[in-house]
Amino acid sequence: MTEEIIPRKIKFTPGDFPRHWLRNSPLYTHFCNTFTLLFPGAESFFLRSVRPFLSDCPPEFRENIKKFMIQETNHSRVHLQLISVLKNQGYRVDEFLNFYSFLLFDVLEKILGDRMNLSLTAGFEHFTAMFAELALKGNLLENGDPDLIAVFKWHCLEELNHKSVAYDVLVQSGISYPERALGMSIALFLFSTFTGLGVFQFLFQDESIDWTENFQEFGRFMTLGGVGESILRRYLEYFNPDFHPENHDTSDLMSRTIFELKDSLIPY
Ligand SMILES: [Fe+2]
Ligand SMILES: [Fe+2]
Repeated sequence: MTEEIIPRKIKFTPGDFPRHWLRNSPLYTHFCNTFTLLFPGAESFFLRSVRPFLSDCPPEFRENIKKFMIQETNHSRVHLQLISVLKNQGYRVDEFLNFYSFLLFDVLEKILGDRMNLSLTAGFEHFTAMFAELALKGNLLENGDPDLIAVFKWHCLEELNHKSVAYDVLVQSGISYPERALGMSIALFLFSTFTGLGVFQFLFQDESIDWTENFQEFGRFMTLGGVGESILRRYLEYFNPDFHPENHDTSDLMSRTIFELKDSLIPY
């Protein structure tokens, strides 16, 4: 079973931030900006997909699910504030958001049904935990706007904290291995498609982007320190029949992050 879920808030006052707020890099910044666009819709979907299975879960576990929902709702609230700032900076994001929400939530969510929606959510939560660990372990979230970096580190911390919740609901609900594997395969397709589209739409809207430099930077990021290889290895772990998110211990990393953010975190 999952560890105790502890929702925390982050001290954050939405205001303007530098256009390339992470590492002074359009590419790194727009990866994070794209996640900002994707989170609110995805996090509401996660809550909707878990709800039909609540009655299958024991009462003590339901308490953790409630806290997971509080965490995701808090994340969405902050990312919606960041979306408003991005719009004020002149980025046109509504077309992307409308297309994303139409395809995923108006069409796919309705076609796939409750069991596959939960499988998708468990798959997406493996992605968020994987990238949260990558971001907190390496130096990805160093060198940039301190307030935004704290927001992203807080979000990463809580993704690690609740990484098992959706998976445990899936197990409790008797969802089979083929359903879980199919959910993860669809999650990979949707995650890579919408992350790619999101990053490109931001880069296209930035003036004087050096495309060669951005592609080289992406190549350096994926190869340096074996990042690409470790993403692939962690992704494939999900297809192991004995997989459980808690098999991969991230408690030390979480403790270090809580200590690092101690002046910015507020108990819920
Ligand atoms: Fe989240
Ligand atoms: Fe999450």
